[in-house]
Amino acid sequence: MVTVTVQASNTYDVRIGSGLLTQAGTLAAKVLSPCRALILTDDHVAPLYADALASSLQGAGFIPEVYVVPHGEGSKSLCALGALLEHLAEQHYSRTDALFALGGGVVGDLGGFCASVYLRGIPFVQIPTTLLSAVDSSVGGKTAINLDAGKNLAGAFYQPRLVICDPDTFATLPPEAFADGCAEVIKYGVINDAALFRMLQDGTSPASEQVIARCVQNKRNIVEQDEFDTGMRQLLNLGHTVAHAIEKLSHFEISHGSAVAMGTVTIMRAAVAHRLCPKSDLDALISLTQKLGLPTECPYGTAEIAAAALSDKKRSGDTLTLVLPYGIGVCQLCQLPANKLQAFLESR
Ligand SMILES: NC(=O)c1ccc[n+]([C@@H]2O[C@H](COP(=O)([O-])OP(=O)(O)OC[C@H]3O[C@@H](n4cnc5c(N)ncnc54)[C@H](O)[C@@H]3O)[C@@H](O)[C@H]2O)c1
Ligand SMILES: [Zn+2]
Repeated sequence: MVTVTVQASNTYDVRIGSGLLTQAGTLAAKVLSPCRALILTDDHVAPLYADALASSLQGAGFIPEVYVVPHGEGSKSLCALGALLEHLAEQHYSRTDALFALGGGVVGDLGGFCASVYLRGIPFVQIPTTLLSAVDSSVGGKTAINLDAGKNLAGAFYQPRLVICDPDTFATLPPEAFADGCAEVIKYGVINDAALFRMLQDGTSPASEQVIARCVQNKRNIVEQDEFDTGMRQLLNLGHTVAHAIEKLSHFEISHGSAVAMGTVTIMRAAVAHRLCPKSDLDALISLTQKLGLPTECPYGTAEIAAAALSDKKRSGDTLTLVLPYGIGVCQLCQLPANKLQAFLESR
């Protein structure tokens, strides 16, 4: 087992290790007094892992109850949040009881936001079962639901008490969901961890404890300096301006990970065209991205991408914060006038 400690508005451990799901009760009992434990999960994950978690919690003195939402982004809704809050209230969960999110980023984001507002905040534990949630959404305290007007528009910064990641659970992930997580793993390498990038090139599995721990450490290092996302945390958005545009243009048919893969390649290609980044690093990125089962070519033109990206950015006025790669492991934030985005992406 590897432990990564995060010191944000509260300090907590991220425990990563094969077989940890069955030790979840013991690990949780180190940071929480045994209490009622609402296990929030989705209908794909529940039949696979809910019983193992519930019995582990029970064995450590917790009183578990499983609450299942439909899988997919639709559960990050006001309606699902309302139903979950009503359930907690009807069942008289108290401020010393806890919510455990067992699943991917959807249940993590919904569960975290619910835990932050129920009785003004109850203890929350993340148990990520997708690679993406293990390396990204379960760490750092961003929680949210979607509104009709857009994704993640209502949420809170709310850190968990504990994160337990058992990579054995990734064995049941559909290949596309696994690849989605790989896009975020590659992202950490490009942002500031050339050694991680090399490990992946050399064939280390993105699902290995050491790779997951390295990603979590990278995220932790950034989050500890900018928990509330007013500065350097934006580095984690590498490739995401373009990715969000691609997701939107495809009406969310293209998955987030595929869009991030295309977005990261697109922005590095532009950086190469502007002579900011060596071409050999772009070639290495393309080949690793393809090796991990992800697309590198974006099906939309730069005009469409820029228009879709800017429709998102009205709130931040005329300037866009772009994460620019100067090479594998070297990225910097840069301010770009919004009306220059298309030209920036276009130059070759
Ligand atoms: N809070 C943050 O910082 C942050 C960061 C990145 C992404 N996110 C959010 O995370 C969400 C995406 O997360 P995700 O990719 O984990 O999606 P997800 O939660 O929808 O999971 C993907 C699919 O895999 C299934 N699944 C999960 N674990 C499984 C397993 N072990 N075996 C078989 N099937 C399994 C789920 O039921 C779902 O169908 C988005 O809503 C995104 O906005 C949040
Ligand atoms: Zn992402």
